[in-house]
Amino acid sequence: MIALGCDHGGYELKQEVIAYLKENDIPFKDYGCDGLQSVDYPEYARKVANAIVSGECEKGILICGTGIGISIAANKVKGIRAALCTDCYMAELTRLHNDANILAMGGRVVGPGLAVKIVDTFLHTEFSNEERHMRRIEMIEE
Ligand code: RB5
Repeated sequence: MIALGCDHGGYELKQEVIAYLKENDIPFKDYGCDGLQSVDYPEYARKVANAIVSGECEKGILICGTGIGISIAANKVKGIRAALCTDCYMAELTRLHNDANILAMGGRVVGPGLAVKIVDTFLHTEFSNEERHMRRIEMIEE
């Protein structure tokens, strides 16, 4: 199960991501927001982060205007590794090396075509399980 969240700056891109998830039969839960009215991104970052640390969802996707604020907020929750990605290389490497559990993107930064490719890469790349990367993740947790 994929947890989705956004603020008003990410709402339109989230609709593109939802269309991709539906087309590919990937189950998701949308934690809001639900429109273009101005909202506070930390609230949606918290909801998605909590869904992951509680085990309700396995990964998350968060979108605000730049992807910066919402990733900063999500990374305050212990156990969350939110990665702001602007291309597929970053999405692939953050899964391989960081075992990122949240993908953050900027709705005002990446276009819908690229964003969907980034999501696809993020969701379909497994953590490398290499010792040095596991050690570094443990160090982050500590
Ligand atoms: C909202 O205007 C904007 O600040 C927000 O979407 C995000 O870009 C913050 O980092």
